[in-house]
Amino acid sequence: MFLCPICKNSLTKCDNSLKCEKGHSFDFASSGYINLLNPGKMNNKKAGDSKEMIRARTKFFECGAYKSISDKLNSIVSSVDHGIIVDAGCGEGYYTHNLAKTYTESKVFGFDMSKFGCEHGAKMARRDGLNQLHYSVANIFDLPIKNDYADVIVNLFAPVANEEFLRILKPNGHLIVASAGIDHLNGLKKAIYDNIYPNEEKFLKYDGFELVNVENLKYSVEINGNDVIYSLFTMTPYFHRTSQVDKDKLSCLESISTIIEVNFAIYKKI
Ligand SMILES: C[S@@+](CC[C@H](N)C(=O)[O-])C[C@H]1O[C@@H](n2cnc3c(N)ncnc32)[C@H](O)[C@@H]1O
Ligand SMILES: [Zn+2]
Repeated sequence: MFLCPICKNSLTKCDNSLKCEKGHSFDFASSGYINLLNPGKMNNKKAGDSKEMIRARTKFFECGAYKSISDKLNSIVSSVDHGIIVDAGCGEGYYTHNLAKTYTESKVFGFDMSKFGCEHGAKMARRDGLNQLHYSVANIFDLPIKNDYADVIVNLFAPVANEEFLRILKPNGHLIVASAGIDHLNGLKKAIYDNIYPNEEKFLKYDGFELVNVENLKYSVEINGNDVIYSLFTMTPYFHRTSQVDKDKLSCLESISTIIEVNFAIYKKI
């Protein structure tokens, strides 16, 4: 199912590599992921999330505060065809892994620009013997997958590649886009900013897709431990836009209560 990112011919497995008929060859890393970025494309040089960002995300996921998001995603996926699941912008693979663990009959593919994310995901997949879960370093705007292949694409807090998603989905396939709801992380924002504003909810229209449903998930959690709170902060868009003075307000914080609110927009390919 993989296509060569350079010439777009099919790739076939040959020992520890995937090769196309033109002789382009891509090796599996020892952890099990494969790098399918087109080496010649300039915007592929942006490497995706760094090792530190991936490590922070893993640290935060371990506290369990986002488990309900993962459970909700799994339940939405159960309501649509899910023989082949693609997680586009999978990060370190938290949601991808839980999908593969739940749907053992499905083939699950995680794609992310971050090799550190794919490396972490692949290690976890190997640890848990999830042989139907595959991670590839790839640009989701130029996916190395053939047309009409996937039953469902999940896309959580990552860019939406409208045209590319349309191309790789089967007819009537689904796209599930998760984004922050109005009150998401209000407790974290309160700890940092003097005035906090609700998040803007956007359910964009995507060409070739019909929005069939939006499901809202909202709950409160307590997040304990300064390192866990700071890890959560580094995962958010606020991290890059916050002054050092405001960032320092988190330095002694040991606990926060916050709302978690996520909207799942469910689109169907038309
Ligand atoms: C906010 S993170 C979300 C990751 C994961 N879905 C999660 O919720 O934990 C966004 C991810 O999108 C990835 N990303 C951004 N642009 C990308 C692109 N063009 N192709 C592939 N991955 C991309 C980043 O490397 C990062 O891991
Ligand atoms: Zn090729």
